[in-house]
Amino acid sequence: MQMKTLLSCLAAITAFTSASAAGKPQGQPFGKTGDGTPVEVYTLTNSKGIRLRAMTYGAIVLSLETPDRNGKSADIVLGFNTLAEYLKGTPYFGAVVGRYGNRIAQGKFTLGGKPFTLATNNEPGGMKCALHGGLKGFDKVVWQGEGLTKPGAQGVKFSYLSKDGEEGYPGNLSLSVTYWLSDDNDWRIEYTATTDKATPVNVTQHSYFNLKGEGNGDILGHELTFKAAKFTPVNVGLIPTGELRPVKGTPLDFTTAHAIGERVNSTDEQMKFGGGYDHNWVLDSQSGALALAATVYEPTTGRTMAVLTTEPGLQFYCGNFLDGKLTGKSGKPYQFRNGFCLETQHYPDSPNQPSFPTTILQPGQTLKSTTVYRFTAK
Ligand code: BGC
Repeated sequence: MQMKTLLSCLAAITAFTSASAAGKPQGQPFGKTGDGTPVEVYTLTNSKGIRLRAMTYGAIVLSLETPDRNGKSADIVLGFNTLAEYLKGTPYFGAVVGRYGNRIAQGKFTLGGKPFTLATNNEPGGMKCALHGGLKGFDKVVWQGEGLTKPGAQGVKFSYLSKDGEEGYPGNLSLSVTYWLSDDNDWRIEYTATTDKATPVNVTQHSYFNLKGEGNGDILGHELTFKAAKFTPVNVGLIPTGELRPVKGTPLDFTTAHAIGERVNSTDEQMKFGGGYDHNWVLDSQSGALALAATVYEPTTGRTMAVLTTEPGLQFYCGNFLDGKLTGKSGKPYQFRNGFCLETQHYPDSPNQPSFPTTILQPGQTLKSTTVYRFTAK
């Protein structure tokens, strides 16, 4: 073979075997928000046939295509095809939620002796709380996007400055979230934040998964295993009582594999409060190092997902509030329990729970948090 031919063959092989060889993803127009701000979409691909699309509005993951055990690809996250549908409102499909993801009781907390009041936008069991950052949380703002590349991975970095007082939170919070899609089939999420005043921060990714493919029915057959021997029980308002309770002997025990549907309708009080699973698990690893938190297996397609995180908690929500009113990407309504979220995070209501790991970011500190969703099929 001639040298030139050999070189072009090598170049072609490299292009097929490396995500980064495809270059930096470029932002493409995806529409405009109500006030005319342009929104862009970034597409990340890897050499194993995975494709992830994310937009600057809400840092929302629009689609995530992964192969099943036969190599057949499907989009495994719930969502919509157009920006207009996201602007109409969604139960946080694919978004980054914050400044404080999850609930703060009564929308109130005290910091440095000063009381803070947030808008209350949720009322489970008739108890008001602030949920996922407030009326206009990080899921509803336009972030600055930047395509990235490194050996074996493509990425997009979304940056946002949340101003002092935004949604009632103190301090200018400078935040970035980077999504990397690697040739090892990892969707890696890296959060970084700094502030100029002490403030609670709890950011997480709120994708709804259905490893059968979005629009393909319920998620009850998915088998879950959690590296968590305890959870934070809640009251009727889904606010933790402060206790760290062993899962042993309860429907929340996923220390060995169980299908979601097996015990989801249990008459256990915690399950009644959540209307199914809607709880925070206390991860066994509390070291802050990246550790396995959960594995998911979907038997009909063979898709598996492992979740690794540096966070101390994992909110597992099995789509109990989906009710068929929203029609998804493939034209099918998203019914009760048609998607589930595994949100790596700190425990709910931590600003009011002195015994929980702190969520207060101080000036001069840099918050760093990493979560990996790893995809295979077997
Ligand atoms: C919470 C649910 C809530 C849902 C909103 C989840 O993170 O755990 O209680 O209803 O978000 O979409």
